Amino acid sequence: MKTNQLQKNIFLIGFMGSGKTSVSLQLSDMTGLKKQEMDQILTQREKMTVAEIFERKGEPYFREQETVLLKQFGGGDPQIISCGGGVAMKEENVGIMRESGTVVCLTASADVIYERVKDSRERPILNGNMSVEYIQQLMEARRPFYEAAADVIVDTSHMRIDQVAEAVLSAVSQ
Ligand code: S3P
Repeated sequence: MKTNQLQKNIFLIGFMGSGKTSVSLQLSDMTGLKKQEMDQILTQREKMTVAEIFERKGEPYFREQETVLLKQFGGGDPQIISCGGGVAMKEENVGIMRESGTVVCLTASADVIYERVKDSRERPILNGNMSVEYIQQLMEARRPFYEAAADVIVDTSHMRIDQVAEAVLSAVSQ
């Protein structure tokens, strides 16, 4: 796919471990568009890990910085933006994403998510709660927000990364 076929940003949202980072890399390779990783930008700005930001400055501060950052993605060339898993929980954020792009939600079953995230200590929301049951419960609580925010939903549970990226591109090009 050529870059000029995509006029708008692509925002990848979804639960932790749904594949946003890997798929955004693949999409960037396939389209030539620049990839932005929200967590990475915020940790570079703050010179702290996400877990440290939560601990030292608090979750509300992290959530405010996510909104500030989201506003900076509008206006330029289209980009692929991999959002943190909590971004779609805030209505203001959904409005900002909609203004400049297509919102694509990646999903996966709780079992698959657990396998993908279980060895990570970088997600304060899951630290101390690392179980399929907890993931299932939090996913269910968040599901209405993800579904309301999404223009497109892709279940990544049984797909390779390149297949997910193809599915995203075909959906956003319609
Ligand atoms: C969060 C998801 C994380 C990160 C932070 C909070 C969440 O991003 O932004 O730990 O609330 O779901 P990933 O979805 O990239 O892991």
